[in-house]
Amino acid sequence: MSFTDADLYTIRRSLHTSAAFIREWMRSPRTMGMVCPSSASLSQAMAAGISPELNGLVVELGAGTGTVTQELLRTGINPHNLLIIEKAPAMIQILHQRFPQLNIIQGDASDLCQLLPQERRADYIISSLPLISLGKTAREAIILAMHESLREKGILVQYTYSWSSANPSLMDKFQLIDSRRIWDNVPPAQVFRFMRKPASS
Ligand SMILES: C[S@@+](CC[C@H](N)C(=O)[O-])C[C@H]1O[C@@H](n2cnc3c(N)ncnc32)[C@H](O)[C@@H]1O
Repeated sequence: MSFTDADLYTIRRSLHTSAAFIREWMRSPRTMGMVCPSSASLSQAMAAGISPELNGLVVELGAGTGTVTQELLRTGINPHNLLIIEKAPAMIQILHQRFPQLNIIQGDASDLCQLLPQERRADYIISSLPLISLGKTAREAIILAMHESLREKGILVQYTYSWSSANPSLMDKFQLIDSRRIWDNVPPAQVFRFMRKPASS
């Protein structure tokens, strides 16, 4: 078997990003949620439904090594309409290297309202945040921030490794549209799509 220079570059980059992810998981397992990055199938399912014609703002939360980010760009959306939020400095470094063209902010998802461009609300939030392992206080602060940052009828996409139905804390503020099981992720994951409920309900 022989490898082209492009193959070798891709293999090296993938090993480098996976190693960085594992190091970060050893440092902070609860905020990373899992020991390895999301699979291509999971990332594609997270980005599905976004059309290249979309002119609204797409926010990705907890981008990690950028596997979902890559799929979001593959949908053909304008990179200017994509905002990436990630907390871990080691992941931020990888994201800047992979996507120099994107607006990538190092910050906490619970501060999302303050991190959005002025006067703008998100049409889509694509979240890889490990909401369950982050704990109740952080989870509730993030869910509130996601709700306040989405426009009326905006869409939230969130995955989980849990086998139960959608997280009850999310169901308070978001209406479930559909869900899809992704078997070829380690471990298998479930992708939920929600629509923002009006603020008063
Ligand atoms: C499951 S990993 C993301 C996996 C990513 N899809 C990949 O393939 O690399 C979750 C990510 O959420 C980030 N994260 C956790 N808590 C966060 C928070 N409060 N605000 C922003 N990012 C956070 C972690 O640093 C981690 O990169």
